[in-house]
Amino acid sequence: MSKEAKLDLDGKTYTLPVVEGSEGEKAVDVSSLRANTGYITLDEGYGNTGSCVSQITFIDGEKGILRYRGIPIEELAEKSTFIETAFLVIYGELPNRAQLRRFSDLLTENQFLHEDMKFHFQGFPAGAHPMAILSAMINAASCFDEGLMRWHWGKAKEFDIYAARLISQVRTIAAYSYRKSLGLPLIYPKKAYKYTANFLHMLFSTPYEDYELKPEVVRALDLIFLLHADHEQNCSTSTVRMVASSQANLFASAAAGVCALWGPLHGGANQAVIEMLEQIQRVGDDGSKFIQAAKDKDSSKKLMGFGHRVYKNYDPRAKIIKRACDDLFKVLHITDPLLDIAKRLEEAALRDSYFVERKLYPNVDFYSGIIMRAIGLPMEMFPVIFGIGRMPGWIANYKEIMEETKSRIYRPRQIYTGRPLSHYVPIDERK
Ligand code: CMC
Repeated sequence: MSKEAKLDLDGKTYTLPVVEGSEGEKAVDVSSLRANTGYITLDEGYGNTGSCVSQITFIDGEKGILRYRGIPIEELAEKSTFIETAFLVIYGELPNRAQLRRFSDLLTENQFLHEDMKFHFQGFPAGAHPMAILSAMINAASCFDEGLMRWHWGKAKEFDIYAARLISQVRTIAAYSYRKSLGLPLIYPKKAYKYTANFLHMLFSTPYEDYELKPEVVRALDLIFLLHADHEQNCSTSTVRMVASSQANLFASAAAGVCALWGPLHGGANQAVIEMLEQIQRVGDDGSKFIQAAKDKDSSKKLMGFGHRVYKNYDPRAKIIKRACDDLFKVLHITDPLLDIAKRLEEAALRDSYFVERKLYPNVDFYSGIIMRAIGLPMEMFPVIFGIGRMPGWIANYKEIMEETKSRIYRPRQIYTGRPLSHYVPIDERK
């Protein structure tokens, strides 16, 4: 028998359907609430609100589970690559050989930016944050693509090309924004290189000498991309869905996602973690002073890279990244004092009742910045790396919106708490 919820309001009882997901997640469907009762639900920060049904990613935050299209993140991290996982996230199935080849070919065919886009890069001031450049240039790239400007959801067949173009070009834009910020000449992608190797080449090669591609470094960065490929309805993905619901094009929706991702509570946290670790190192703190400040409600400090709206357990991505970090340091024979500080900080926080009671564990960003530092990426590029990795998830969510038969523009309600009716006062009569 299907379940129902009963709601008593103003002396009347209303029945609301209960929706159950494939992993037993339950929701009370309130979509008819306002029409039937005149009430809306209020849930600031959306902690209890499902904004959509989706088949892409499953998270059980209590148990620390993350699966893309049903496949555990641990299996994908061990056996897959970012590009294969991107296909899985977007199209719902692991690709066969022919599908993977076609997808890779599409990425290669679409990796060059329009030459005139170089002039846009030149317009940014030195030191411009690469996230600002990334979002502006993704939007600008759509202007250089007449087909995309005219493209409409109805023409689903072209989706494959635009999806591949976005995944491929975002990497080229990211590399160019890095080089622009350092005043270095741009390096073009190479046909022979695979996705992540090509990105490293565009970042670090010079016009005279190709960057030496170490397989361990390529694999570590590929893993970071893969671990960020999707994460269900977070701030940026919901933003992408929101913009997509107005039928804005794929690039415009993704550019909005980059802006939402930028903040230190979301994709900017990896940069904030390194800044925090550097600060701890600078003042010679063993971490205890910082932890004290992070617990103090009067201080603006937080333990960056800790806590999560959904995970009330160790973020499974953080476990994988921590291991990858140790492995990379071992094979490259390198050390980083910040890694030692991070480990000490983690141990201390996990023993501290403040963090234990609130179920605050390391999230994906706690160790990813240390790997990116080891690769030679500057901190400002960390959120950009998150953005490149998250592109398949945004594209898959865009596709879901596009394919919904009853797709409606997203339009939340609010409870107005402002001034009641008041009247215009001419300027001379105002106090
Ligand atoms: N340091 C200190 N206290 C914290 C932290 C933290 N990192 N995170 C949460 N708390 C406290 C919070 O102040 C609250 O305390 P109280 O109950 O006494 O008021 C309690 O823990 C519950 O937290 P919350 O406010 O309900 O958490 P939230 O779901 O609103 O925020 C979060 C989640 C990720 C924004 C937050 O944990 C945070 O700011 N963490 C640091 C930033 C960070 O690492 N962000 C990356 C998230 S993972 C990447 C991604 O998916 O974007």
